Amino acid sequence: MQSVSKLTNLQGKKVILRLDLNVPLENGKITDTTRIDKVLPTIKFLLKQNSKIIILSHVGRPKGKVIKDLSLKPIQKDIEKKLNEKIKLIEKNIYEIKKDMLDNFNEKILLIENIRFYPDEEKNDTNFAKHLASLGDIYVNDAFSCSHRAHASVCEISKFLPSFSGLQLDLEIGALKKITSNITKPVTCIIGGSKISTKINIIKNLISKFDNIVIVGAMANNLIEHNGYNIGKSLKEENVNSIVNEILSYSKEKNCNIIFPEDVIVANDLNGQPKIKELNQIKLDEMILDIGPKTVESICNIIDNTNTILWNGPAGYFENPNFANGSTAIAKKIVEKNKEDKIYSVVGGGDTVSLINSLNAVKDFNFVSTAGGAFLEYLEGKELPGISALN
Ligand code: 3PG
Repeated sequence: MQSVSKLTNLQGKKVILRLDLNVPLENGKITDTTRIDKVLPTIKFLLKQNSKIIILSHVGRPKGKVIKDLSLKPIQKDIEKKLNEKIKLIEKNIYEIKKDMLDNFNEKILLIENIRFYPDEEKNDTNFAKHLASLGDIYVNDAFSCSHRAHASVCEISKFLPSFSGLQLDLEIGALKKITSNITKPVTCIIGGSKISTKINIIKNLISKFDNIVIVGAMANNLIEHNGYNIGKSLKEENVNSIVNEILSYSKEKNCNIIFPEDVIVANDLNGQPKIKELNQIKLDEMILDIGPKTVESICNIIDNTNTILWNGPAGYFENPNFANGSTAIAKKIVEKNKEDKIYSVVGGGDTVSLINSLNAVKDFNFVSTAGGAFLEYLEGKELPGISALN
């Protein structure tokens, strides 16, 4: 994989830049601009080199149809403001556009309207990819978060142009390598979420490399029950006994500690009064909504003795502050070690990132990934088509 950041001869070149500007929109307003902010350095780099930038991106899942609410217009406005640079949004059918026509636009940045308005995009269609490629001189993928999609503007296009990674994609891959291949041990993963079945492949992939895997969140309820405790009306996943057995026996074989809560916070419902409980004290009408103080202490001890940490999934129902203590304590402990430069920390997953955002602590982690599916598939050890295409 070659990075565009190493190129110095881009003067006057047309650069097709695939970004993931798939930001949350509410009534035409962007509610979180993180994904945009993260790719600004790449755009600035290309502007500085005097190249003409042709941005391709999707937003939402229009499934090959033009859907007005999924226009890139609000995103165009946001980038224009942030860069103080005019951007031309090209709404015309892209098949009708030829490379020399792009010179008629004075703007240095052209933004092609939502690439998923074209059914050929998701089909990874060769002719569509060829046409996209015909508009530029080089191709840059700075869209790690959709590199798990074998789509024309992510994958097939790279067959027809010299292809490079973007600055943000370099950072993302660099951070992920530090937790999957170039690891400074001891290494710990804190993993939460509601369904153990959706994370089994990640856990299995990490067990062979990690020293500790701490399972929290609703996923841990299955482990607590597996160990013979009543979990009342806590959220749990049905029919996952064999998955739990597989995790436990594989971790023994690979000498990886599996840690799960030793005490919990329960309530009668999501808005109920929080109570600290030992595992053998949970009543039938109670639900587990956070980890307890002893568990917090154990996890903090583990973090203290860890050099690398990956965190994906909060420890409890943090949307209610009564049950946010576990997640907040984990975040604070990692931040404390980060500030002392004693840990390398990577965080990913929508809920965990919004928790860290709410604590205003994004800058206190080494890397906070905004990639959802791509982040998880990478951790499963899968090859991402968009990344393989660059190699
Ligand atoms: C994401 O938000 O994870 C990426 O933009 C990919 O979107 P998708 O899941 O609709 O392919």
